[in-house]
Amino acid sequence: MFAHMSLTTALIGAVVTSLPTNDLLLSSSIATSRISPSSRRAPTYWTPPMKSNIQFILTGIPDVEDNYIRPNTGIYEIDMFWTPAETVTTMKQLGQRTICYFSAATAETWRSDYKDFDKKDLGLELPDWPGERYLDIRRDNVLKVIKKRIDVAANKGCDAIEPDNVDVYSNDNGFTPPIVPSDTISYLSKISAYARSKGMSVGIKNCIEILGDIFDDVDFAISEECVQYLNCTVYSNFTTAPRPNAIGKPVFEVEYVNYTYNGGWSDDGVALKPSSIRTSNVNFPGLTNDKLRRKLCNLDEEGVTLDKPYLKINTVIKTLALDGFAMYCDGSVERTVTKDVEGQNGPRDVDEHVGKNRRSWAREVVWRKMGGRPVDP
Ligand SMILES: *[C@@H]1O[C@H](CO)[C@@H](O)[C@H](O)[C@H]1NC(C)=O
Ligand SMILES: *[C@@H]1O[C@H](CO)[C@@H](O)[C@H](O)[C@H]1NC(C)=O
Ligand SMILES: *[C@@H]1O[C@H](CO)[C@@H](O)[C@H](O)[C@H]1NC(C)=O
Repeated sequence: MFAHMSLTTALIGAVVTSLPTNDLLLSSSIATSRISPSSRRAPTYWTPPMKSNIQFILTGIPDVEDNYIRPNTGIYEIDMFWTPAETVTTMKQLGQRTICYFSAATAETWRSDYKDFDKKDLGLELPDWPGERYLDIRRDNVLKVIKKRIDVAANKGCDAIEPDNVDVYSNDNGFTPPIVPSDTISYLSKISAYARSKGMSVGIKNCIEILGDIFDDVDFAISEECVQYLNCTVYSNFTTAPRPNAIGKPVFEVEYVNYTYNGGWSDDGVALKPSSIRTSNVNFPGLTNDKLRRKLCNLDEEGVTLDKPYLKINTVIKTLALDGFAMYCDGSVERTVTKDVEGQNGPRDVDEHVGKNRRSWAREVVWRKMGGRPVDP
């Protein structure tokens, strides 16, 4: 039932977002020459549909050597630095759009462009994350370095970018005067204009304080753990706000679980005994497996969404490692075949920090906002 609902919504979403707007706007811009055609024209870059599954691979990279990829979500978020252009190209041939992830507000010593940052760009080191320091997003040089990263993403063929950590205003970053939300808005709008000019769309992660202000400058939002730590309702404006020829923008949402499974996986990454996968989450101690999935997906026992705004949120259930494992709200479980990348986590060894190596997913910021306790796996 849920699957049918998603498909229908996906089709409606696709129709709405692809409505041709050129004719209409062309005539109105002739009639009133004040309207700037460039700000009103339909985007010339891909934007994600309102309703779609997504897969995140931020530990390792998708292994597409056999010209095969699973799940066929149509959208993958991948690591912009580590995923080679050939992988992006093959993924495109396999029908998968790519959102390329990179940090836009921290400097990591192991990145090839680290030396391009000035000393004045760098703030405090992130607690617990040696080698990673906050960036002063108000400085021209920072934008200059990040624009080069956007060039790299464009050259690799990424369809979208996810500039992470831009909620630097909510961290103890060491800059005076302090970085404030309006600095992020201004920074993100420049990043966005540049990325869009290169044919890519832009996603915003977390940053709930500025979601409304930044709506026009982003094309989708990514949320972590809004069921567990925030309220997903903060995203309902984002998915329902009116805009020219469309309504709202999509939200992709990830919830974390631990899982155990002793069954096998096919070479293609399909769980051979899906019913034997056990999931748990420390924050929902009474809930496991299907009940947990329904909770994280905001579904009731029948698989029907309980709260209307959630209908438009696209949830995927993953482990903190953001590796190949993925569970979807219809109960399907998949494992994307991935390749390890040596040095991917800089000084942070993957084995020692499984589940912690994606610090830049800013979990601690979410925890702090909620006054909650950090839960390290
Ligand atoms: C989450 O929901 C609770 C209870 O409805 C509310 O008090 C709190 O302000 C909400 N938090 C956010 C971030 O919306
Ligand atoms: C949603 O938008 C309305 C109208 O602009 C505003 O009053 C409300 O605070 C917004 N809610 C959230 C959660 O952003
Ligand atoms: C996974 O298990 C570890 C160890 O018990 C725990 O600390 C962590 O919070 C769990 N993660 C989730 C998402 O429940």
